[in-house]
Amino acid sequence: MSQPQAAVGASVARVDARLRVTGKAKYAGDNNPDGVVHAVIVDSSVGRGRITAVDAGPALAQPGVLTVISHLNAPRLPPVESNGYPPGEPLRAFQDDQVRFFGQPVAVVVATTLEVAQHAASLMQVTYHAERPSTDMSAAPPADDPETYARGDADQALKSADVQLDLAYRMARQHHNAMEPAGIVARWDGDKLTLWEKTQAVQFATFNMAGEFGIPPENIHVISPVLGGAFGNAFRTWVHSVIAVMAARQVGRPVKLVLTRKQLYFGIGYRPAYSYGLRMGSDRRGRLTAAVHDVDSETSSYETHLEDTLVPGRMLYSTPNVKQIHRSVPLDVNTPTWMRGPGYSSGAYPLESAMDELAHELGMDPIELRRRNEPLDDQSNGLQFSTRRLRECYTTGARAFDWKRRSLKPGSRRDGDWHLGMGMAAGVYDTQRAAAQASVRLNADGTALVQSGTSDMGPGTATSMTQVAADALGLTMRRVIFRLGDSTLPPAAGHFGSQTMASVGSAVQDGCDKLRKKAIALAVRDEGSPLHGADTANVEVRGGRLYVKDAPGRGETYQRLLARNNSAYLEVLGSWAPPEGPARYSLYAYAATFAEVAVHSRLGLVRVRRMLGVYDAGRIISPALADSQALGAMIGGLGAALLEHTITDHRDGRIVNANFADYLVPTHADIPDIRAIYLAGGEDRIADPIGVKGLAEIVCIGVTPAISNAVFNATGRRIRQLPITPELLL
Ligand code: MOS
Repeated sequence: MSQPQAAVGASVARVDARLRVTGKAKYAGDNNPDGVVHAVIVDSSVGRGRITAVDAGPALAQPGVLTVISHLNAPRLPPVESNGYPPGEPLRAFQDDQVRFFGQPVAVVVATTLEVAQHAASLMQVTYHAERPSTDMSAAPPADDPETYARGDADQALKSADVQLDLAYRMARQHHNAMEPAGIVARWDGDKLTLWEKTQAVQFATFNMAGEFGIPPENIHVISPVLGGAFGNAFRTWVHSVIAVMAARQVGRPVKLVLTRKQLYFGIGYRPAYSYGLRMGSDRRGRLTAAVHDVDSETSSYETHLEDTLVPGRMLYSTPNVKQIHRSVPLDVNTPTWMRGPGYSSGAYPLESAMDELAHELGMDPIELRRRNEPLDDQSNGLQFSTRRLRECYTTGARAFDWKRRSLKPGSRRDGDWHLGMGMAAGVYDTQRAAAQASVRLNADGTALVQSGTSDMGPGTATSMTQVAADALGLTMRRVIFRLGDSTLPPAAGHFGSQTMASVGSAVQDGCDKLRKKAIALAVRDEGSPLHGADTANVEVRGGRLYVKDAPGRGETYQRLLARNNSAYLEVLGSWAPPEGPARYSLYAYAATFAEVAVHSRLGLVRVRRMLGVYDAGRIISPALADSQALGAMIGGLGAALLEHTITDHRDGRIVNANFADYLVPTHADIPDIRAIYLAGGEDRIADPIGVKGLAEIVCIGVTPAISNAVFNATGRRIRQLPITPELLL
């Protein structure tokens, strides 16, 4: 029983486009429940040490100030049970006098207006016993619980390799810099708690907050229907949310707390800084024989955030001998967190840069080198790939990007004062999936409501789910409403890891298929229906009308069917979960990213002129939304390659560029001609019933090395750190 596909695969506008562009979308901080008051956090002005005194007197003397909470008067919170945080002891709200990083919340001021709260917060007198913080990764010792991996004898193989490279890369810390700041409005009604919170995971958010206060998660209702970007930073409950809930309980009124742009640099996580040593050996024909990965990344003193950075290095290329170690380096900083393509993006940069270096050593085209190292299966676990079309990504990309114009000899193409160069890189990201449910209700008026407790941090989840639902129900998209972003909706895992389309999409498909079949079954049993007695397998639905495929004149609408049966609605629950048990296939999405840059011969400026991403990401549900994912990710990668880095003053642990004037991100003027191509016929039915492999992360993986390799091709200068700032090229 198949259905015509009209919405899936079509370039449709976002269903919430009008809501967003007219400013009617209600972000967390836009909610103003009756009696709402405002909270402003006071940040620590030392990077490590102890709070010795808190004088709230001047703040409390301001008219309109309702309370000041610090560790001196905060209620004691229960120990936190396992709640999805990284290993360690999460930062708690005002539970002791310790300062763990510069900017850590040390008090909160609650007042009737935001302005009074801000002013009163500025009057807070907090004194410290300050110590010198450790914030310099190159000067701090790593923790002694590294992640390791080995196959073969990499050290031995390296020694006897024909070509040997020994390379050291560094990557700066990056911040998500979403347009919408982290924020929450918290309201207690007796022992029930309502949270309008910016979150990528409405249901995880109830569990996390429940753990903080030792209350049942059922007592917490999280509402988060629209987000203004998150990229990973809104997946966990940060301490400011706990502070807002604590303050709301204290003052007996709803409390709004929104972090300032500055606070977003230390009040929520970020992509950690890395140092990455990579030794690589190959034979004369470019076949890799050995790779040794020696990786450090920063974490906080109280939690260990360690990403899957080593994965590309153990499965992207055929390499018989691999040895890897990844250590976390605890520093006096806030805990890092997932940021778009976490781990894989940081791991692809050194690997793909080193492949470019090896190609240059061998005088070989970098694509040819990669082709020679395509593995037959996943060497990290011996599993067959479900689908892997990286070779086609190379071929398609090389043709579309006119790769043949690239010169093998660096520094040989010029345009006036500008050196021109082209680079490319591969990318990989695992296809994550999780259990999800979706309720589907078909109303008597022929409209449908589909609901799931997932989120949309920006990709357009409601739109792509509406496309799937519309086709499966045989309705136009206008007749389908998809609701998300509420913890009371049917359960779905968090909106991260590029898993939403595969997981929730498959549940929506399941629910809508079930509902359509239920309606068809009702019709063929119904003596009053023109479809009475028809073969159910031969009935399809289009435009809300059920009909016999071979005799389209024989049929009726959902409305007539439901009206005649005195039915206000039909309802089902759809669900999907990935198969249990050991994995039988290796599931990944793949990318090849191409970049052309111009580097100014005297100023060291890098301008990206063109970029192209080619993706093996499974079926593409929504091409227009896919493009906004891919183009946005390439722009983000451009920022990471050339502009973004956090500058910390190691004397006190302060981030000195915690604002949009000094922390540079790409603007319109920096954006080149960018294009994305998705390999046709890409369904991966092994991954999930709707054949998608996830798109949000793979599109950002391999962008930084593509640009960096292009800079080498333009100039002959090999820069092994990100970002590539002009001074490095002078
Ligand atoms: Mo994404 S970093 O998994 O939100």
